[in-house]
Amino acid sequence: MSDFLQGLADLFFGISLPTKAAENAHLVDNLFNAVLVISIIGFIGLMGVMTFFIVKYHRTQNEKSEYIPHNATAETIWTVIPMIIFVAISVFGLFEYFKMNEVPKNAYKINVTGFQWGWTFTYSKKEDGKIVSFDKNELMYLPVDTPIVLEMTSTDVLHSFYVPSFRVKRDTVPGMNSYLTFTPTKLGDFNIFCTEFCGTSHSRMRGIVRVVSKERFQKWADREYKEANITDPVELGYRLYNKNCASCHSAGANKIIGPGFQGLYGKTREFADGQSEVANDEYIKNSIYYPGRQIVKGYENKMNPWVGQLNDKDVEHLIAFIKTLK
Ligand code: CUA
Repeated sequence: MSDFLQGLADLFFGISLPTKAAENAHLVDNLFNAVLVISIIGFIGLMGVMTFFIVKYHRTQNEKSEYIPHNATAETIWTVIPMIIFVAISVFGLFEYFKMNEVPKNAYKINVTGFQWGWTFTYSKKEDGKIVSFDKNELMYLPVDTPIVLEMTSTDVLHSFYVPSFRVKRDTVPGMNSYLTFTPTKLGDFNIFCTEFCGTSHSRMRGIVRVVSKERFQKWADREYKEANITDPVELGYRLYNKNCASCHSAGANKIIGPGFQGLYGKTREFADGQSEVANDEYIKNSIYYPGRQIVKGYENKMNPWVGQLNDKDVEHLIAFIKTLK
């Protein structure tokens, strides 16, 4: 029924609600469609009666109108009927609101933090008595057909977490937790919007919910937990190298665009200006942060400064990795 009405509304008025992708989404749609139908009936009825009266009581038919101070029956009817309709809508809405806020006992919990301007999603679990967790920005993975509860807060101002396809929306408030629960039923990507004006980049405060199969979610989560808990500096350095450096610096001795990293650590570097220096921690750090200051002989000044993009910890990890390239 709800889908049929939705189809009609779409056909006649171009009103089309986003895909329904959560278990209770139809509750919101039912209410929306009920209000829509009542409004259409009310509008047509009102306009019909008005047109009828315009014709029937036009000045040409009745030169002088009768004097009627009030009519208790008519006034009672037009007060009581709308009142019943409006109260019914709010009671209907209230029950649905309660239903949509029941958190299932085994709901999978994710922490959501709104900030100017973005979302952080924190996944955590208990392992050997301690909590391990990882953060994701802007992209929230969810397992399909699994009840989810979001524990939400904000670091700065009010934001509001809104997923139209799930028909859920709630404010995130600094200093307190708010909760949102739903069960995604469809695979795919769905938009997250911030729907509380929160500053100049409010409109860019978006995200994606990616609903995947339970198996795929489990694999993804396992990998992320593993990734987040790597502490080996060489491994971390290797990852940073692959992500940031590998397109210009080979891990061998050959030249791609910049100097290769093999055997670099501890070697004396000759610069274009005729000076030289031993490649120690300090030298590597400066070469990453301010590459234009010392140009290795035979190379061009092509690298942008990385100060602010990598921090001292990152550089330590990179150095640990470079040291292994003997
Ligand atoms: Cu955050 Cu608008």
